[in-house]
Amino acid sequence: MPLEGTAVPNTAARDRVRADLLATADLPYGGEAVDQLAHALQAGTLAVRAGARPPVVAAALLHDIGRSPGVTAELPEAPHERAGAAYCARLLGHEVGWLVGAHAKRALVTLEPDYAARLSPVSVRSLAAQGGPAAEAEVERFLRHPLAAEAMLVRRWDDEAKVAGAPTCTLDELLDIAGIR
Ligand SMILES: [Fe+2]
Repeated sequence: MPLEGTAVPNTAARDRVRADLLATADLPYGGEAVDQLAHALQAGTLAVRAGARPPVVAAALLHDIGRSPGVTAELPEAPHERAGAAYCARLLGHEVGWLVGAHAKRALVTLEPDYAARLSPVSVRSLAAQGGPAAEAEVERFLRHPLAAEAMLVRRWDDEAKVAGAPTCTLDELLDIAGIR
């Protein structure tokens, strides 16, 4: 069920999101084997394959949108998660915004010792910059949120979406499935 305040997607949102995603083509993804756009399309496609709800597909597709130049320009001092969360909340509603800003990696590292061992070297480095594993009280607070389980799924798709040449849905297919019309 959509949370209170969830925006009704509209054409202006679709045009903006589409342009900001396309602007990430050829942007490197911190040394991973894919560029930012391929990473976004792969994450969104994994969400579709898992049968995720439209706002969760949107969050998977847009989880790194805070790195797109037009979004960075809006909040130049903010970490990309926070810039992306503000952008998604404004254009697509609070559910997508919360999922994009959720920091589920830090909670997962605390909850599952094996999870940290499976992170890519690039992701291990960014974990340190993000504050390292979440403290227990922070994890408890996170788990009480109604979208916590879906935020952890988005994070797992994020981790898997780094395969050079992996087949994906098209951007327009993903925007349709995510309900961004
Ligand atoms: Fe990512």
